[in-house]
Amino acid sequence: MFRNVLYAQSGGVTSVINASASALILAARKQRAHIDHVYAGRNGIIGALDEDLIDTSLESDEAITLLAQTPGGAFGSCRHKLKSPEDNEAEYKRLIEVFKAHEIGYFFYNGGGDSMDTANKVSQYAASLGLNVKSIGVPKTIDNDLPMTDCCPGFGSAAKYIAVSTSEVALDVASMCATSTKLFVLEVMGRHAGWLAAAAGLAGKAPDDAPQIILFPEVAFDKARFLARVEKSIADNGYCVVVVSEGVRDAEGRFVSERGTRDSFGHAQLGGAGPAIAELVQGALGVKYHWAVADYMQRSARHLASATDVAQAKALGEAAVELAVQGETGMMPVIERRSDDPYQWRTGKAPLADVANVEKTMPKNFIRGDGFGITDAARAYLRPLIAGEDYPAYHQGLPQWALLKNISVARKLAPRAP
Ligand code: F6P
Repeated sequence: MFRNVLYAQSGGVTSVINASASALILAARKQRAHIDHVYAGRNGIIGALDEDLIDTSLESDEAITLLAQTPGGAFGSCRHKLKSPEDNEAEYKRLIEVFKAHEIGYFFYNGGGDSMDTANKVSQYAASLGLNVKSIGVPKTIDNDLPMTDCCPGFGSAAKYIAVSTSEVALDVASMCATSTKLFVLEVMGRHAGWLAAAAGLAGKAPDDAPQIILFPEVAFDKARFLARVEKSIADNGYCVVVVSEGVRDAEGRFVSERGTRDSFGHAQLGGAGPAIAELVQGALGVKYHWAVADYMQRSARHLASATDVAQAKALGEAAVELAVQGETGMMPVIERRSDDPYQWRTGKAPLADVANVEKTMPKNFIRGDGFGITDAARAYLRPLIAGEDYPAYHQGLPQWALLKNISVARKLAPRAP
């Protein structure tokens, strides 16, 4: 069996995807009986197809350790969905060609639902050729929408950023509302699942606390009901904080924020629900507003990472190596929750076939009856995921990020056909 690893990052990055990468590389370095080099795809699977590989063996242990506190995707990510081998066998053939040329026996794909599907197909395709490649998915997504795992690395830290920012901004607008701003709208990510929007609910305890309104993708947007609730909140509290998911849709299923463009996974390009909602309120009630889009800040805010999230991202990177050297393929390490309070978890595993292409949305019992807030069950689930701080080391007032050399592996093949 080949003894090299190919690791690739995929999809939207998170503030802790590099923590998984770091733990995975360090764990692989200890597996001398099974593993020689860890290569990384430059810009994800595109790097694998283009034979553009990075030799992580040329990075020191210190640099790889510092990677764990560095946001972004250190080797580059991409949005490129491999079709099934029946629809585009050329890409799979090329991947196998690269695997053979660089003696790749282990493939780790660190991504969300689409990437788990790819990892599964790679596992099956390699097996169909009789090639011994262990293909393991490593979960990550701030959207928290992968099934079979209690939560997804990246979510807890983005959720913490959103909960903390909502509680801070609420104090600001409460100070200003007597004579100035009465509405603040925060737009958060999550295209089909309201997990990130729900996290804002941790900022308040009583129903009147900010955020007074959360708009979930799971609840059809009803303009009249929404405006009545904003008006009531301003009358009762002097102000209203609204947290809106980028994925919020009306009863006909139209995104409030759709721009009409699509990414290469075929997903609608979202963004703009925040300003759209703020302008809607302004038009109807004539109040002064501010809005913000948390956008990439929510998924890169490593300075405010959740210690739970960092620990889980690392544990899953290590568990992935463990599964692979035990001979598993077509699997994904997962987080299993053992109890809410005290919070206890451990890693487990799930077949990629059960994870691929399934989106886990918020269960009904996590959304308050009026559709504008979260329940105690949601709080019990969410609270431990944002718990604890894992500050990066600072130098001259700024966090210290890993600066990898990212040296390329010498190419052995002809360029792939265009
Ligand atoms: O990967 C998840 C995610 O962060 C979504 O919440 C968001 O809609 C999307 O990625 C944005 O993707 P991109 O960075 O490709 O625009």
